[in-house]
Amino acid sequence: MNNTMEVILINTAHALMADGKGLLAMDESSPTCNKRFAIYDIPQTPEKRRDYRELLVTAPGLAEYISGAILYEETVRQLTSKGEQFVDVLEKAGIIPGIKVDTGTVDLVNFPGEKITEGLDGLRARLIDFASSGLRFAKWRGVFSIGEGIPTDECIEANTQSLARYAALCQQAGLVPIVEPEVLMEGNHSLDECSEVTERVLKSLFYQLYKQRVLLEALILKPNMVLPGLDCTDQKSVVETADATIECLKRCVPAAVPGVAFLSGGQNGELASERLNQMNFKYDSKLPWPLTFSFSRAIQLPVLEYWKGIPENTSEAQNILLYKAKCNSLARKGQYAMDPATIE
Ligand code: G3H
Repeated sequence: MNNTMEVILINTAHALMADGKGLLAMDESSPTCNKRFAIYDIPQTPEKRRDYRELLVTAPGLAEYISGAILYEETVRQLTSKGEQFVDVLEKAGIIPGIKVDTGTVDLVNFPGEKITEGLDGLRARLIDFASSGLRFAKWRGVFSIGEGIPTDECIEANTQSLARYAALCQQAGLVPIVEPEVLMEGNHSLDECSEVTERVLKSLFYQLYKQRVLLEALILKPNMVLPGLDCTDQKSVVETADATIECLKRCVPAAVPGVAFLSGGQNGELASERLNQMNFKYDSKLPWPLTFSFSRAIQLPVLEYWKGIPENTSEAQNILLYKAKCNSLARKGQYAMDPATIE
């Protein structure tokens, strides 16, 4: 990577972390998007997925709260109803276009209950193609379940090495890598267990990024928050989860990283905003990196629930999207309050 490329990547990473903004993850695979459509009897067709994604990217004024949008490959290949490329629509709106490039997870052979993310084969050529289509950053997600004896060190090493190799390929192709190691919320594990596993994963990740000579100044970390499992009987307060998350990140994430953009992971949307808000409210000036959101479900679910695939609902669904984006923009600044009356 030459110096000019380094500067471009570093500038893009900082632009993604712009003050008061976060990322909109709209990169659900077609099967995942279809599952969400099925709940509202929305036809599971490429055209309806296109219509829905068009609703998202054309919401007027979205760029006030959203710095970048993560697209799914299908969307990049589609045109909007006005015949425009989604990448162009986003650029014109002042939102940086990015793309999910992993091809999903499969069982990790010999390790029951564990997954490995695929997509490295042929990735170099795909990234060159994506960069020439105007995409400026990419995303790869590795997942880790907590359970009896898992995650194993072998699963952590295999997935973090893949994340690091993906990140190196991205930077070489001129795309900022978003590295997303997700410790899943399913299970009855405690807050402390989530913290311990997240720490193992992040330490392994940054070791592998170092080994693969990835430029830390030109990537974004997209981690889970440190939370008790969904079935844990000892759910913790917003303050406790915020403190646990920050403590864990401070132990693991080098100061050179330009920013941390949390996934929502299936949390209740308001709680995700409140937790992000608490971290920014309490720790903002005391951290080496800014903290923001890169949410899918925590932003999108109310939008989809209202839209239901009905064209007449599009404009109000966009208002809901803007409202959710604004809530999280406020949380990015530590100024979010759950009462809607306090949001202008
Ligand atoms: O990979 C997952 C998405 O980018 C984030 O989705 O906020 O629903 O966890 P989520």
